[in-house]
Amino acid sequence: MAVVCYLNEKGGVLKSSLSRALAVECARNGMSVRLADMDYTQQSTSEWAAARTSAGIEPAIKVAVHKDAKAALEWGKGHLLIVDGPAHASDATIALGKAATLVVVPTGCSSEDLVPSVKVLNSLRKEGVPDERVLVVLTRVMSDAQEEKARKWLEPGRYRVAPGHIPDLVSFQNVAYGTALSEIVGRPALKQAIHNVLDAILDAIPEE
Ligand SMILES: Nc1ncnc2c1ncn2[C@@H]1O[C@H](COP(=O)(O)OP(=O)(O)OP(=O)(O)O)[C@@H](O)[C@H]1O
Ligand SMILES: [Mg+2]
Repeated sequence: MAVVCYLNEKGGVLKSSLSRALAVECARNGMSVRLADMDYTQQSTSEWAAARTSAGIEPAIKVAVHKDAKAALEWGKGHLLIVDGPAHASDATIALGKAATLVVVPTGCSSEDLVPSVKVLNSLRKEGVPDERVLVVLTRVMSDAQEEKARKWLEPGRYRVAPGHIPDLVSFQNVAYGTALSEIVGRPALKQAIHNVLDAILDAIPEE
């Protein structure tokens, strides 16, 4: 089954938020999903899953913390394995990037975010990860103009950039702990924006 890794050394670009949302929506659609939390220091996705389970929120998501790529891949065998990468480069993340069916690189749209994101994209290329296995997702977008500027900025590198974006909004910070961005309540347009991005990620998974 597919391995979808969210990687970016830049912190706060929604690796964890999007990996949780993809896990929840795929599990809701009946897929067997495992979510590997590779952030050994923070372990925030593992804590999030524990909060979800103790609040009785369905579907429950199986999460385990892993330091080692091989162990994570072994644990995820036979399932859709989603990997929430840490906010720093490590041998494990490079190995996961190489082993992934799809690497998702979420990035904010400011230069502060785009510069390190391009470094990650170029190092994936250098490591031999084919472009068709890599997808950039624009996150924390504050305006259409900002999105357009970021897309123009990424154009020369010919990276694959998903359509749509995740808007930067306090409403998403207020979702109940243990729920995913896609489970936001009472904001259908925002929910749709998340689903559009998740669909673009699923569409980008190459056939095996
Ligand atoms: N659409 C959004 N708009 C604004 N804030 C958001 C949005 N989605 C999530 N957040 C918040 O942004 C913060 C960072 O998100 P997240 O933890 O997913 O990033 P990350 O890339 O995993 O960070 P790290 O590299 O530290 O692991 C969190 O506090 C989260 O609640
Ligand atoms: Mg994280």
